[in-house]
Amino acid sequence: MGIEVVVEGLTMSFGKQNIWQDVTLTLPAGEVSVMLGPSGTGKTVFLKSLIGLLKPQQGRVLINGVDMVSSPERDIYETRKLFGLMFQDGALFGSMTLFDNIAFPLREHTRKRESEIRRIVMERIELVGLLGAEGKLPGEISGGMRKRAGLARALVLDPQIVLCDEPDSGLDPVRTAYLSQLLIDLNARIDATMLIVTHNLDIAATVPDNMGMFFRRNLVTFGPREVLLTSDEPVVTQFLAGRREGPIGMSEEKDAALLAAESAHAAPHRAGGPPGIVPQLEPSPGLPPRAAVARRRERVLGMLDQLPPAARAAIRDTYARGAAAPTLTMPAPGSGS
Ligand SMILES: Nc1ncnc2c1ncn2[C@@H]1O[C@H](COP(=O)(O)OP(=O)(O)O)[C@@H](O)[C@H]1O
Ligand SMILES: [Mg+2]
Repeated sequence: MGIEVVVEGLTMSFGKQNIWQDVTLTLPAGEVSVMLGPSGTGKTVFLKSLIGLLKPQQGRVLINGVDMVSSPERDIYETRKLFGLMFQDGALFGSMTLFDNIAFPLREHTRKRESEIRRIVMERIELVGLLGAEGKLPGEISGGMRKRAGLARALVLDPQIVLCDEPDSGLDPVRTAYLSQLLIDLNARIDATMLIVTHNLDIAATVPDNMGMFFRRNLVTFGPREVLLTSDEPVVTQFLAGRREGPIGMSEEKDAALLAAESAHAAPHRAGGPPGIVPQLEPSPGLPPRAAVARRRERVLGMLDQLPPAARAAIRDTYARGAAAPTLTMPAPGSGS
């Protein structure tokens, strides 16, 4: 099962340039979280801080009692082995086959025999739907397949925490939809704690249990998906609607154009969901249910009275819809308000 990641009061600057300040959040064990934010707001810097590659000036990142900011490097190095990382560009070696690319971390970081490596690599190749392509070079396959190969490589060391930096960049809407399903299926199979940085509104609307957003050197919000999806904060509504009007301005204009293009493909609101909220994706038929779902239900219902009314109503609605939570006992209407 995934591991909780606790971030407390994290502040990061490069020289005089402050990137973000006082970031506090918890990635709940085994749940899927999405981080949004205009370009340049420090999302990649945040991911690198979680794995201890960058060192914020203040705050802590606690994983199994190790602080990825200030614990001894030896402990940080060991804890880093719990992570699987999927970077923006897939970061595959162009001269290696997909098989060798995916096997690379195993050959580099373990002393496993080649037969064992083969078993693990082929299992991950199957997991991401690349069976048959293992002998191909990265240049011979589509961008979507390269993404999936990058994901397979992130998974060979059995990560308990998976970080994906813009896994959708360069993918068309259909491939992005497949990727969204793949991320949910992956979570159902391995129960890892997942954090996905994305600009993609479909992924944001359908994949995560939790969502957060960076803007103007702050974490604007982080919490259950329903909080951000029902938020009336201008920066959040602008971002989710992909509008030009709003606090996100000129310097992120390229970003806004990209978002506007993407929102044209945004999933239509399906009947039955809370207003404005598209139902979260479920694992593909034949897969086990996501272990995080039951934990998340407990957790979120336990914090209902700390949430804004719109989010509270949306969460009640989500869990009242039945299929996802047949045995749920709902708190009485109005309780905790
Ligand atoms: N190693 C570094 N040294 C100095 N500045 C950096 C470094 N890495 C990132 N930055 C700066 O931090 C800011 C945030 O970058 P980044 O995390 O890549 O944003 P995002 O991923 O949200 O688009 C940018 O202004 C970038 O120039
Ligand atoms: Mg980035």
